[in-house]
Amino acid sequence: MSIVTDNHPVRSEDKDEFYHDILDGLYVFLDSPLILDILHAIRKYPLLRLGHALNENQVTCKKWLLKKLAENCGTRFRNVYILGGWYGVLGAMLLHDPSFEVKQVVSIDIDAQCKPIADALNRTHVRNKKFESITEDIYNLDYARLIQAEADADTPDLLINTSCEHLSDSELWLQKIPDRTLMVVQSNDYFGCEEHINCIPDLETFIGQVKLSELKYRGYFKLKKYTRFMLIGTK
Ligand SMILES: C[S@@+](CC[C@H](N)C(=O)[O-])C[C@H]1O[C@@H](n2cnc3c(N)ncnc32)[C@H](O)[C@@H]1O
Repeated sequence: MSIVTDNHPVRSEDKDEFYHDILDGLYVFLDSPLILDILHAIRKYPLLRLGHALNENQVTCKKWLLKKLAENCGTRFRNVYILGGWYGVLGAMLLHDPSFEVKQVVSIDIDAQCKPIADALNRTHVRNKKFESITEDIYNLDYARLIQAEADADTPDLLINTSCEHLSDSELWLQKIPDRTLMVVQSNDYFGCEEHINCIPDLETFIGQVKLSELKYRGYFKLKKYTRFMLIGTK
């Protein structure tokens, strides 16, 4: 009796189908709309950079952010503005996390190519109007209009910038933000990356750069190639 097997290694031209099949299976097993949104985005935009935005380091740093945010500021927010939001990964992770209650996430990036990809990755929450992506330079935003720093202590507005290493003039950006705004900022010491024009060597330097008036959390996360720094507090 001969047994027919099809157990050959995956050919490179079949790799897309291979990985998509696995994600399809994980979606069924985990019943995760986040995985379904990711599948939708990577099928529509099969870009290497989208893979980078979803890689282990990026997701680890964003999971760390959500954990420390919940521990130090609670889980209920009104409008959450994510500056330099790239492809909307953090917005998707936040809105799909059942422990958080958020009115709306607005993801803002200067690169117009980010918007359609961020919208695809957040398809579920674009449909129910909980996610919006905007193409804009964060130096041009009217923060006083966007943020009501003291409107509601139980569900405050929140400003997140995990792209501080990309800012040409972080001092100018910080001047535009109203006092008492609740903020989460991340930066890193990955000086080797060409796009990183504002890296910092350590946490103390980051604290001195951002100058929050009330610091609720300060910490760092060591990754293989670099260390990521995070501050949570009010300006
Ligand atoms: C490579 S990504 C994000 C890296 C970071 N590790 C993260 O995941 O949050 C940096 C993003 O910042 C955006 N960016 C840089 N300067 C900006 C500005 N002035 N206004 C809005 N977005 C900006 C870039 O377009 C890019 O999409």
